[in-house]
Amino acid sequence: MPMSGGAKYGGLAGVVAGNTGICTVGTGQGLTYRGYAIEDLAEHACFEEAAYLLLNDGLPSRQELERFKSDLKDRRHLPQSLKLTLEQIPPSAHPMDVLRTGCSALGCLEPEGDFSRQKEAAVRLLACLPPMLLYWHHFSRSGKRIETVSGPDSTAGYFLRLLTGHAPDDPRLRAMEASLILYAEHEFNASTFTARTIASTLSDIYSAVTGAIGALRGPLHGGANEATLELIRRFDRLEDVEPGILDALKRKEKIMGFGHRVYTTSDPRSVIIKKHARRLSREAGDTLLYAVSERIEEVMWREKKLFPNLDFYSACVYHFMGIPSSLFTPIFVLSRTAGWAAHVFEQRADNKLIRPRAEYTGPQPRKWLPLEVRG
Ligand SMILES: CC(C)(COP(=O)(O)OP(=O)(O)OC[C@H]1O[C@@H](n2cnc3c(N)ncnc32)[C@H](O)[C@@H]1OP(=O)(O)O)[C@@H](O)C(=O)NCCC(=O)NCCS
Repeated sequence: MPMSGGAKYGGLAGVVAGNTGICTVGTGQGLTYRGYAIEDLAEHACFEEAAYLLLNDGLPSRQELERFKSDLKDRRHLPQSLKLTLEQIPPSAHPMDVLRTGCSALGCLEPEGDFSRQKEAAVRLLACLPPMLLYWHHFSRSGKRIETVSGPDSTAGYFLRLLTGHAPDDPRLRAMEASLILYAEHEFNASTFTARTIASTLSDIYSAVTGAIGALRGPLHGGANEATLELIRRFDRLEDVEPGILDALKRKEKIMGFGHRVYTTSDPRSVIIKKHARRLSREAGDTLLYAVSERIEEVMWREKKLFPNLDFYSACVYHFMGIPSSLFTPIFVLSRTAGWAAHVFEQRADNKLIRPRAEYTGPQPRKWLPLEVRG
């Protein structure tokens, strides 16, 4: 049974729970990573530039970027015992559970130790999560043990190459770069706050990221991109969209990929990813999926003044790249790990244990009843 968040505290909506110098969301500045507009980053940067920016507080020079990419590439190898762990996970498992388990397992094999090595651990995680996911993906489907070390030095190119077996064309590569950049950071969302809470106990980065993956998995957060494709695919004909959505709204169904806790009129990331979705749809000769998505958007705005968030058109983009829907949320992990790590560093730099209070709503003090009396 879903639990009520408690109307009075409303899921901590609007509560400012700390300071951050990493990202602005829903302020007059728009969405920025360390002061850089998301529109510029998504248009001009590669994912590694954005990840470097988040981890280091500044854009890399050409040389720093090359070194960062080559560091990531050098850290893609999976320890043999991690491969064996991944091979034990059944094909029926959700890939988010695989990443959660893989991240935790890596923390056993290569503990972070002293926090002075936190950046190394973050780079190792960023490098290692894509091969971890794809190693399990191929092994669980066909028993094939893929080689994970070589391949393109960009995370976007590497992921698509390892998944599909061939190099992506330019529009797909560009869309994947943009998608990874858009997903990389978003202030105090549920998974990032989870990571910060864990970090605030002075726990290790693997624990923080493992917990964050668990928080991201749910459909109200990262899981929405997978759930969105299911929704869009309900409609085989454009004319069924309006009655279908009206019906769902009447049943009080949540329409996945719509709404946001902080944004009130639009999600700046959605505008960007929608352009990629339109382009990939045209190139694929698609006449239904994108059109259905736009129709859902129209109906949701007209009926509820709700707008698509990043997850909505991301589902279209990934679909046109040939990515299975169960991998949609895991892609979010591959990217958001950069943001999570940046927040762990920030939390540690000025740490105070995160321990809020709760208003007690339980029973009044009761007299102890011995077991014999309780029957
Ligand atoms: C993101 C989300 C959890 C934010 O939720 P929130 O700030 O707690 O707002 P609520 O869920 O309380 O919604 C407020 C109202 O809008 C409605 N609403 C919000 N999102 C909705 C959606 N996606 N579909 C239908 N109605 C929605 C709620 O039913 C509620 O209506 P009511 O006041 O008549 O009961 C919510 O919009 C949602 O569940 N979206 C779908 C999941 C999703 O896309 N998640 C990814 C977020 S980036």
